[in-house]
Amino acid sequence: MHQLYPFVFSFLLVQTAIASSQLQPGFYSQTCPEAELIVRQVMRRAMIREPRSAASVMRLQFHDCFVNGCDASLLLDDTPYMDGEKQALSNINSLRSFEVIDEVKEAVESACPGAVSCADILIMAARDAVVLGGGPNWEVKLGRKDSLTASLEDSNRIMPSPRANASYLIELFNSYNLSITDLVALSGSHSIGKGRCFSIVFRLYNQSGTGHPDLNMDPVYREMLDRLCPLGGDGNVTGALDATPRLFDNQYFKDLVNERGFLNSDQTLYSGNDQTRKVVQHFSRNQEDFFSAFVEGMVKLGDLQSGQAGEIRKNCREVNKPTPGHFVI
Ligand code: HEM
Repeated sequence: MHQLYPFVFSFLLVQTAIASSQLQPGFYSQTCPEAELIVRQVMRRAMIREPRSAASVMRLQFHDCFVNGCDASLLLDDTPYMDGEKQALSNINSLRSFEVIDEVKEAVESACPGAVSCADILIMAARDAVVLGGGPNWEVKLGRKDSLTASLEDSNRIMPSPRANASYLIELFNSYNLSITDLVALSGSHSIGKGRCFSIVFRLYNQSGTGHPDLNMDPVYREMLDRLCPLGGDGNVTGALDATPRLFDNQYFKDLVNERGFLNSDQTLYSGNDQTRKVVQHFSRNQEDFFSAFVEGMVKLGDLQSGQAGEIRKNCREVNKPTPGHFVI
């Protein structure tokens, strides 16, 4: 699987370089000046209804952008002719809050029909989730198009497993031109939200096939996780990804330093690699530096583009129906 990356991603990066230069802040200042305000308002309402929706929406940016660029391919429902990305291994029974994006889209459509892409809505909503959770604010670049298709296969090939170790993640992120600092900062998104027992039972009971738990786990924390996720228990039970799962802060990094990381792919950044450990230690002591590195990472993630033709979908879940005389550009 590793060998595929250089080919797939060098192609992707060439496309990225071409298309991301067309993205710009204020892209909708003429066609939908109130777009950003509307997104913020709907996100605020959604988070009052359910605080976790901030985390769930923010995660969508990662899962969309890593698979053939930020083109809202993730949002497409399956059709009889296309297996979408929602059924992919990392997404099924796990990604949530698609209905929040639908609600944002509806509100934006009623203000400015046909103007704002679902891909841009995802980027704005992810930023707002961070801000409303107490994290940094930043200006987003806009002007993306929505894809005409999605790829279950690409999502399965690309999206990393919670079992991933640091060197695998470094290589994966590097193939998108994302540095070690970007990897660690973006993993800091696990400062908010929850994960399922399904994602951690292997490290509780059979890390790397040893029949034993991961050694890099604080014993008191492990006992707590053992009670939450007993062997043979319900894999859909959830636990917090850090000690303050509603607050976007640097607690996640403090937890990693104390061997209280929830996912193996989190703890490995402290316990499994010297280079990532230094960055984790730094962010655990300096929230400001985490915030600015996180913003830089999110902007780079948002720049990933496939360069393929696209459209502005009316409904984020399906491509537009062809109308006579209508051509996609
Ligand atoms: C570095 C590689 C990454 C891996 C292996 C990974 C894996 C995971 C896993 C396994 C979960 C829990 C899913 C479940 O148990 O159902 C999760 C949750 C989450 N991930 Fe990641 N992730 C990574 C990077 C990222 C990035 C870059 C972002 C955003 C920029 C992100 C945002 C989130 C958020 C916010 C949640 C909580 C979602 C919720 O509460 O609904 N992750 N991730």
